[in-house]
Amino acid sequence: MSGKDPAIIVNFKVYSEIEGENALRLSKICDSIADETGANIIVCPPMVELSYVADQVNIPVYSQNVDPRKPGSGTGFTTPSLVKSAGAAGTLINHSEHKQPADDVGTCVQMSKDLGLDTCVCADTVEVAADLARFSPCFIAVEPPELIGGDVSVTTANPDIVRNTVEAVKSVDKGIRVLCGAGVKNGNDVRTAVDLGAEGVLLASGVTKASNPDAVIRDLIKFI
Ligand code: G3P
Repeated sequence: MSGKDPAIIVNFKVYSEIEGENALRLSKICDSIADETGANIIVCPPMVELSYVADQVNIPVYSQNVDPRKPGSGTGFTTPSLVKSAGAAGTLINHSEHKQPADDVGTCVQMSKDLGLDTCVCADTVEVAADLARFSPCFIAVEPPELIGGDVSVTTANPDIVRNTVEAVKSVDKGIRVLCGAGVKNGNDVRTAVDLGAEGVLLASGVTKASNPDAVIRDLIKFI
């Protein structure tokens, strides 16, 4: 597989299951499956573990967020520059649990690109995805908020949002890779996402809360 193969982005969020050493443990599971299979797996550990994890795995590590701030006086913010120096390869921006105004999204994308960071911008609707496509991030991930953390995959509950987001985003910039997320749990969901035109998935609870994450990740990639 190559960097252009379907991306499986695992957002650890701030679940208790991935606190402390567990963030590295889960990242290493993803790392070793990627190494063994060639799957394109990306992890987003909690911010406080970013550097620790990035130092110890070979797969890309993304921040869960960046703020549109330059280095300087700004207590508690996460600058793109800090993310880069922590060893991350990219960042999520505008997750529906951490939204930013559209202009700030654009600033975050540009600042991240200037540092060579990948960008995955989240959008909760087709319209928002189409609008944010003007910033040309690497990825746009469409996630209906009402399905996040649930047991029904977006690919089953709302296949049209995936299809329509792919069409809308590609009509603005063909180079943006469209992902979908919310409720994605298994290999069938990933396969359906790809069949709908997505180039991967962004998921969280299906992996982070799993009692056997190794088995879940292997299942996620089995049809791609
Ligand atoms: O960032 C991924 C996310 O919002 C989807 O969460 O738990 O439904 O896979 P989940």
